[in-house]
Amino acid sequence: MRSRFTFLFRQKLKLQIITTSLTGGLVAGYIFSKYKPIVHAETDISVKVGERISTLPTYSMTEVAKHTTAEKGYWLAYKDGVYDITSYVENHPGGKMVLRSAGKALEACWKIFTMHDMDHVYEILEEYRIGNLPPGIIIGKALLFGKENNFLGEREANQREQEKITDLFQYDPERLNIKENFFVRSKRPFNAETKPSVLVSSFITPVEQFFVRNHMHVPFVNINEYKLEIGNGKSTHSLSFDDLTEKYQSYTITSTLACSGNRRGAMNNEEQGTIRGAPWYVGAIGNARWTGVRLRDVLQSLGLDKEGKYVQFYGLDCETPKR
Ligand code: HEM
Repeated sequence: MRSRFTFLFRQKLKLQIITTSLTGGLVAGYIFSKYKPIVHAETDISVKVGERISTLPTYSMTEVAKHTTAEKGYWLAYKDGVYDITSYVENHPGGKMVLRSAGKALEACWKIFTMHDMDHVYEILEEYRIGNLPPGIIIGKALLFGKENNFLGEREANQREQEKITDLFQYDPERLNIKENFFVRSKRPFNAETKPSVLVSSFITPVEQFFVRNHMHVPFVNINEYKLEIGNGKSTHSLSFDDLTEKYQSYTITSTLACSGNRRGAMNNEEQGTIRGAPWYVGAIGNARWTGVRLRDVLQSLGLDKEGKYVQFYGLDCETPKR
């Protein structure tokens, strides 16, 4: 069963102070644990990436630019390095977004998607190394020597593409008091966990202090045109926001929400730095009151409750949802 899902539940803002909550107690326990929070993931890179390797062949940027299809392979450049990432595309956690850099230089893109600025990401990239750019090309500054005249055009085109990517983030909400409330794991997409001191100060974590886990930019949603599509591979139903709020009963529940990667930083310490992914400390968790309609009711009303075995969700920020 294929479905398209967007955040139905809304947190109620009302603050309820209960000093001895279960979550608060658990989190407070961790404050005194041996693990210290990593304040920022994008820092202290120790992996050598994109440095010239004299034993590898040289490819011009013009050659790299020819590799933008599955048949020819997907190549890209980073610093002095040339990479063939064809076999990585299917495994990329950010999906087909990676193809935006096919045939181009990666720097500007990663300046925007800043969560790539981590050792393990650079290690992965180096696994796909096939060569060097010719000497004299400095990525990111459009400096070139010798016969690489086509390169300037490629670089400008790349720059324009990156400006389009920046636009993707234009609907990200303004976030206030970030330093006070969060440890930021990446700026774009914005990922941040609530500081333990903030978590334990209230039973319900207020919306503006709730941890944020984005995989992409925040999409623009016009509520009047919004449609929730639910399909089973044979037919697709479409519900408007009014359909959802008027045709179904809504419920409010209080529940803890945790990112499945919460405390990955500690796990990573135990496993000598081999665990990949954002190094969350203890704060990718929060308590909230959630209000919305029940998925079960929606599936039942559309007659989809009998045949399906599981439900797969796609968010509106998903670049290539249909598989
Ligand atoms: C235009 C180029 C690229 C874009 C727009 C892009 C986009 C993204 C996005 C949106 C995510 C987040 C997915 C999530 O949070 O679930 C991501 C994660 C990731 N990307 Fe890329 N990507 C690009 C290029 C690459 C390349 C060339 C590599 C390596 C060969 C790479 C390696 C990774 C890795 C390892 C992660 C997971 C990071 C983590 O552990 O949290 N990306 N990418």
